[in-house]
Amino acid sequence: MVVLGRRMTGKTSLVKTFAREKSGLYVSLMGVKNLVGLAEALLQSPGLELKELELGPATLLRLKLTKTMENIFSRLEGKVVVLDEVQELVSPAFLKLLKTMWDTSRGLRLIFTGSYAGVLKRMLEPGKGSPLYGRQPARIELKPFNKDLAEEFLRLGFAEYRMSPRESEIREAVERLGGAVGWLTYYGNSRCVRRMGHEGV
Ligand SMILES: Nc1ncnc2c1ncn2[C@@H]1O[C@H](COP(=O)(O)OP(=O)(O)O)[C@@H](O)[C@H]1O
Ligand SMILES: [Mg+2]
Repeated sequence: MVVLGRRMTGKTSLVKTFAREKSGLYVSLMGVKNLVGLAEALLQSPGLELKELELGPATLLRLKLTKTMENIFSRLEGKVVVLDEVQELVSPAFLKLLKTMWDTSRGLRLIFTGSYAGVLKRMLEPGKGSPLYGRQPARIELKPFNKDLAEEFLRLGFAEYRMSPRESEIREAVERLGGAVGWLTYYGNSRCVRRMGHEGV
């Protein structure tokens, strides 16, 4: 599964919540570019009992590394595993690994998020020569709220803090910030929690 959407549309919040509800694993791959980085991130992730798997010098040879990764993923059978900010991980070895897991794994459930570039684009639009050809994941796209919903979101948030801002402020905030939940939350938090004035935000 791939979760798409612009920045601040709530991708990370959604997948983190889902992983927590399913007792799954959430790993941020910000800055990770290759399989070594992926293996390190997975092995360091809390809640994963993979201590006996080590990334010694021998493991870092390409063949062993692929085997180690298959080993890690096979231990995650039945689990929800979220890989966030996956866009920089464009190594061909990663795509091959995904193909292997697609073909052999029964219950591994991988969720990817990130910007629509790099590896996500290759997953969703695989060319004929790609290991993922014919193996496209499902996709969910998070969209900004429309104007009415965005305004309602702010009003309800203010009400939770027993504050009643001017309607013109609500309207202007939505006009200027758009409907991305993250920016609306930022505005609401600045006003209600940090007690800033409308102009100040
Ligand atoms: N469903 C939601 N309801 C309220 N606030 C939310 C919701 N989803 C996200 N947010 C807020 O928006 C901010 C940005 O969301 P985030 O999940 O980091 O977006 P993305 O990963 O798409 O950039 C979060 O820190 C949170 O404050
Ligand atoms: Mg995010």
